[in-house]
Amino acid sequence: RNQKRRLECRPDIDSLTPSFLSIYNSLIPAEEEKAKQKRLILSLEKLVVKEWPDAKLYIYGSCANSFGVSNCDIDVCLAIECDGTSKSEILTKLADILQSENLQNVQALTHARVPIVKLMDPTTGISCDICINNLLAVVNTKLLKDYAQIDGRLRQLAFIVKHWAKSRGVNETYRGTLSSYAYVLMCIHFLQQRRPAILPCLQEMEATYEVTVDEVECLYFDQVEKLKNFGARNNESIGRLLWEFFDYWAYRHDYANAVISIRTGGFISKREKDWTRRIGNDRHLICIEDPFEVSHDLGRVVDKYSIKVLREEFERAADIMQYDPNPSVMLFEPY
Ligand code: CTP
Ligand code: MG
Repeated sequence: RNQKRRLECRPDIDSLTPSFLSIYNSLIPAEEEKAKQKRLILSLEKLVVKEWPDAKLYIYGSCANSFGVSNCDIDVCLAIECDGTSKSEILTKLADILQSENLQNVQALTHARVPIVKLMDPTTGISCDICINNLLAVVNTKLLKDYAQIDGRLRQLAFIVKHWAKSRGVNETYRGTLSSYAYVLMCIHFLQQRRPAILPCLQEMEATYEVTVDEVECLYFDQVEKLKNFGARNNESIGRLLWEFFDYWAYRHDYANAVISIRTGGFISKREKDWTRRIGNDRHLICIEDPFEVSHDLGRVVDKYSIKVLREEFERAADIMQYDPNPSVMLFEPY
């Protein structure tokens, strides 16, 4: 499959940009939505500190990393000293508190892989998942948000790729396809690889932000307002970048040997990471290194069946981008 000859890009590729940008614009959440989310978090925080005075709430995930479409659920992290109390006990207590405050559909899922409390706020209609002490997610949320501020094409590309993945049913980790987080990392890596580069590698630059979370040192350059012109020497359009993105994952990525790594701004070999064979349920059929938890492969959910589905979808998308007169319709056709 990898031997398939790479096509010359269609000559009218740049003219496809406006239709993709209008899809992007239709997905952006309204400002008032952000304000509603903030108010909900503040009111939840008030309830939480009555019981645990030192606790804090953080928003993470798509509501905070700037890659969220409108009406998304919000992911919240409760940061709390557990000393002795188990996470289940804290979540059960939290669910009791929220229940008594008229929040709806309150449910403590204490046995989930990531234990959470779910709730729905009846005044705004916003649903929210609260987890405990998942601070690495809070830090990687900041990293993604910082990358998004460097070049506007990252947010555009990632919105369109996420929209494609959701439409085509390949954004479902419980069925062996990739998380939204993994798709955003793929977009960052891809833009780091363009020549001239559209994004820098923030973790290879002088660290201006430094935290240690769960024994993981997180260091990177976060003064991104100084990098606003970084991608200016590259003027590739969104139409062209999308074409290249799907062409890359369809026909050019070295699935057998390569790991993509936004931490290093390039590639690492599977051998170097010892990701060459199946260990437990981790098969490493598509390898995406987490920027901070470097032993995490975001592709670990992919199995021998779903890798086929995924690669066929990349090929379908690449072929539509190449041959379809109006790709922005077919690309997002529900599967
Ligand atoms: N996350 C993580 N490790 C993973 C998956 C997710 O650390 N293997 C964290 C990331 O901080 C990510 C957040 O959980 O931003 C939410 O993940 P996900 O639901 O995949 O992404 P969202 O950006 O919330 O996407 P969506 O719009 O689809 O909800
Ligand atoms: Mg989410």
